[in-house]
Amino acid sequence: MVLAASSLGPAAQVALLLKEYGTLRAAADRVHTLVTAPANVPAPREVLEVADRPEVVFEDVRFRYTPDGPEVLRGVSFRVPYGKTVALVGASGAGKSTCVSLLLRYWDPDGGRILVGGVPLPRIADLHRHVTVVPQDVHLFAGTIEQNVRLGAPGADVASALRVAQLAIDPELVVGERGVTLSGGQRARVAVARALATGAPVLVLDEAVANLDTDNEARLVEALQEAAAGRATLVIAHRLSTIRRADHIVLLEEGRVAAEGSYAELSERLSHLFVGQP
Ligand SMILES: Nc1ncnc2c1ncn2[C@@H]1O[C@H](COP(=O)(O)OP(=O)(O)OP(=O)(O)O)[C@@H](O)[C@H]1O
Ligand SMILES: [Mg+2]
Repeated sequence: MVLAASSLGPAAQVALLLKEYGTLRAAADRVHTLVTAPANVPAPREVLEVADRPEVVFEDVRFRYTPDGPEVLRGVSFRVPYGKTVALVGASGAGKSTCVSLLLRYWDPDGGRILVGGVPLPRIADLHRHVTVVPQDVHLFAGTIEQNVRLGAPGADVASALRVAQLAIDPELVVGERGVTLSGGQRARVAVARALATGAPVLVLDEAVANLDTDNEARLVEALQEAAAGRATLVIAHRLSTIRRADHIVLLEEGRVAAEGSYAELSERLSHLFVGQP
């Protein structure tokens, strides 16, 4: 009787598992859909070598998200020279993030082209070795700081990336999922370190609008200044302080470049975008 009773145990467990079958099946379907989804952009063919010290060039770029949707970029042209920081500014919906998505080749433009180091994006073999992004809100995984920084670059020099990112923190420190144990400023600087560790010469920053305290903001600014030397940097600027430091400013309005120049040249046109900022 004991044997009979205990042999029923596993059978009961199978019955419980069967109850989960529907959920498991649905989850597996979703993973399968994601893994087999067709890419938005075709893989590079006839690849070309990207020049050292590359600059970024947008040439008359046109783009719409859906075939019958509105044209979001309507002939955008600008340059980000090597060693310089270019700030992309404009009202909400002007197309700033779209420019960044196209530079990272999440989509291909419908017209015009984007070049890095003289090579059009579709002909660059390993684009993310050349272009890296510090996103507006960074995702940290549960694990050590070092693992989080190494994410995109397994052989990276973590210590020096942390130093340039102004992050005096133990690389062995374990952070929780989403980096909950760090401050906003520290998380932002881990993101900078992660981007620097890849060694990519083109750096794209979607500036966090989240209010950092002045100490954290000052450190982040210092970190980015050191990082920008020896790179081509494109920053989507939300803070007036960033725009003042940029070498060149590109003002987008409704998918077009409405004006570009230095801060002194554009300050009047920019004033309405940054009302209330010191
Ligand atoms: N995935 C998408 N699908 C369809 N339309 C989109 C998509 N992303 C953005 N758009 C549209 O494209 C236009 C430009 O959006 P974009 O995100 O580039 O603006 P932005 O300048 O970055 O604005 P913000 O300052 O608010 O971030 C907007 O009208 C937006 O509604
Ligand atoms: Mg945006």
